[in-house]
Amino acid sequence: MELNFKKSYKFAFKSSAYITLFFLGVFLLYHFFIAPLHLIFVFGFAFCLALFSFFLIQYRVETFIYKRVKKIYDDVSLLENTSFRNQPITTDMETLTKEVQKFARDKKLEIETLKIREEYRREFLGNISHELKTPLFTVQGYLLTLLDGAMEDKTIRKKYLQRADKGVERLIYIVKDLDMITKLETGDIHLEVSRFDIVEVVQNVFDLLEMKASKKKITLSFDAKYAKPIWVLADQEKIQQVVTNLVVNSIKYGNEGGTTEVGIEDLVNDRLIVRVTDNGEGIKKQYIGRLFERFYRVDKSGARSEGGSGLGLAIVKHIIEGHNEKIYVESQFGVGSEFSFTLEKTE
Ligand SMILES: Nc1ncnc2c1ncn2[C@@H]1O[C@H](COP(=O)(O)OP(=O)(O)OP(=O)(O)O)[C@@H](O)[C@H]1O
Ligand SMILES: [Mg+2]
Repeated sequence: MELNFKKSYKFAFKSSAYITLFFLGVFLLYHFFIAPLHLIFVFGFAFCLALFSFFLIQYRVETFIYKRVKKIYDDVSLLENTSFRNQPITTDMETLTKEVQKFARDKKLEIETLKIREEYRREFLGNISHELKTPLFTVQGYLLTLLDGAMEDKTIRKKYLQRADKGVERLIYIVKDLDMITKLETGDIHLEVSRFDIVEVVQNVFDLLEMKASKKKITLSFDAKYAKPIWVLADQEKIQQVVTNLVVNSIKYGNEGGTTEVGIEDLVNDRLIVRVTDNGEGIKKQYIGRLFERFYRVDKSGARSEGGSGLGLAIVKHIIEGHNEKIYVESQFGVGSEFSFTLEKTE
């Protein structure tokens, strides 16, 4: 390994100075108290001694410490290639200690983040298997009952197969959402930005969800008449997904006979805001902060008829933030909710 070597001469200099002073002292004592010596000889000797011991000590220190320090560097750089390689090796213990301490601190931080990530991963896996279990067992239940003899009865056969199919549909829906959220969370979000009419996108979503809404007698409408197209710059498919998730929620958590209204308003010169407002069950204040976490549901008991996996709003948030836009929520328990997000306007 090619490493540059930062030298420190302090040690050799001090050691040789002490040796020299000692011998100089001895000679001078001899000179004054026993027999006079040639002072030129005394100082000449001291000078040579200083020079010789300096180089000898420096050499010995370098080979001795260098070997050990290099080993430490090698050991440490086994773990961490990048941070140590480029620094000069030093025989200066203070620098080395500082570097090793910094290394240890960095490692500790790294281990902590890894631990958090591991926890996150475990929780994610736990949530996934939990979400998949319910529909899987439903499907299995119907199939087993059919195999146990229920398939002899024609009407039951059809009914059970339809229910099993519903379960499979639910599984597909969850897997699709999981796929989407994993892609979004690994930063795999690829935006295909284009110019499109946001009014048309909202109308599309209304058309697609009309059936679902009419089952709860919920009306889907705009807050005003939007006769002209409103052009925005964004990924059309993903924004349609955002609007869909928000409108589906407004239906799922809306009251029978309620309304869902979408409004589009100018915000600042190049931004507009899309609002999805319902007069449904609303959300208590203490839950609002966590709505956008994945797998988060206000009512986890599954007691209510509208089950979900709690991924919808997490996906919405990722998509909107992927566009560098903002999402807001306002809600009053028992009164209704409003989810809104910004978009970039264009001509
Ligand atoms: N319009 C709304 N009115 C009342 N509560 C809502 C509304 N939208 C969302 N929530 C609450 O926020 C929670 C999280 O919503 P999110 O869309 O992320 O999950 P989900 O609808 O339960 O499941 P998924 O959308 O994955 O099928 C919901 O479980 C619900 O309790
Ligand atoms: Mg939802």
